[in-house]
Amino acid sequence: WFSHVPEAPRDPILGVTEKFLADTNPQKINLGVGAYRDDSGQPVVLKSVREAERRVAGSHFMEYLPIAGHRQFCEDSVKLAYGEDSPVLKNKQVAMLQSLSGTGSCRLSAEFQGHWLPGSTIYIPTPTWANHLNIWRDAHVAIEQYPYYKPETRGLDFERMCDFLSKAPAGSAVLLHACAHNPTGVDPTTEQWRELSKLLKAKTLLPILDCAYQGFASGDCDRDAQAIRIFAEDGHRMMLCQSFAKNMGLYGQRVGCWSIVCEDEKEAKAVESQMKALARPMYSNPPLFGALLVHNILADKALKQQWLGEVKEMAERIISMRTLLRQNLEALGSPLSWNHITDQIGMFCYTGLAPEQVDKLTAEHSIYLTRNGRISMAGVNTNNVARLAEAIHKWGLK
Ligand code: LMR
Repeated sequence: WFSHVPEAPRDPILGVTEKFLADTNPQKINLGVGAYRDDSGQPVVLKSVREAERRVAGSHFMEYLPIAGHRQFCEDSVKLAYGEDSPVLKNKQVAMLQSLSGTGSCRLSAEFQGHWLPGSTIYIPTPTWANHLNIWRDAHVAIEQYPYYKPETRGLDFERMCDFLSKAPAGSAVLLHACAHNPTGVDPTTEQWRELSKLLKAKTLLPILDCAYQGFASGDCDRDAQAIRIFAEDGHRMMLCQSFAKNMGLYGQRVGCWSIVCEDEKEAKAVESQMKALARPMYSNPPLFGALLVHNILADKALKQQWLGEVKEMAERIISMRTLLRQNLEALGSPLSWNHITDQIGMFCYTGLAPEQVDKLTAEHSIYLTRNGRISMAGVNTNNVARLAEAIHKWGLK
């Protein structure tokens, strides 16, 4: 039955973790997966999450959630993204469903697109999070990739991006990273977001915003929602994929929210019923615990404040590691420019290292990162930064 099944290639991101775990070098460094670590390299459970866990313990049954998940959790989530006073929420234009974190939200978006916008294409940035391509491919949606990053400037290729998207056929969807673009750490400015929103509106293109890092770009969850709020304000029909993996450190709980901004309440009701119809045959209903944690945090003013402080703290530690890594490389006399380490934002640094150079870092120094040269800055700390800088200095020029 199965003798014809070949072994699949390793996942370009999670496969790095597999290799890291198999390495016996006590000095090994994992800069692969985007998962926050403290300055001693340990995973973190936020204090606000611990408090929510204490409040939740013993207070709930283990019953099924409805197909669309925990309603209050969804309402709290969309408020965090679109804003407390958002007109689209007040007008009940937003259809929403609790999802299996960012991947689950994207997968449902892709399925919805395939089902309800048949024959339409998804425009995905180059480069992007590798899983985006798998997700839309497996949903049988045609994929085009638009220019996003300019290696020469290590910045945004805004002109080519707009030019490319302006030629996309009306009725196509455009995937955008709401903030802290993964893997490049390069985001449009506020003005550029406004221009993009106008362009997509004028060309009848549907924005799909993947928001996996709200709070991680600037340390401020409102500021990091600016793209979402600009698009909503401009009256787009749009989809939004939210994840609480990174900003609440709830990676393994698989908690997120998928929402679609519709024309009005009636349309939102119909759309939401179809969102549920897609989720039911895939996984029935989402897990309960993570949604209860997020709801307990977002619905309690004091706890939410504490959480916002913790997000800021994580973002600030990463920013300080960017400075330290750049300083270390400059102190080693590197003739290359490392400005981009501190210019880029969010969890990642797109170093510019070629795949062969990455292989050297791994083989010679047990430093693990994805072969596209992306470093998870969250894995850098005061104990490993010097060793990392030395390895980059050594192989970065070869
Ligand atoms: C990453 O890009 O490292 C994260 O989004 C984790 C993942 O699932 O790939």
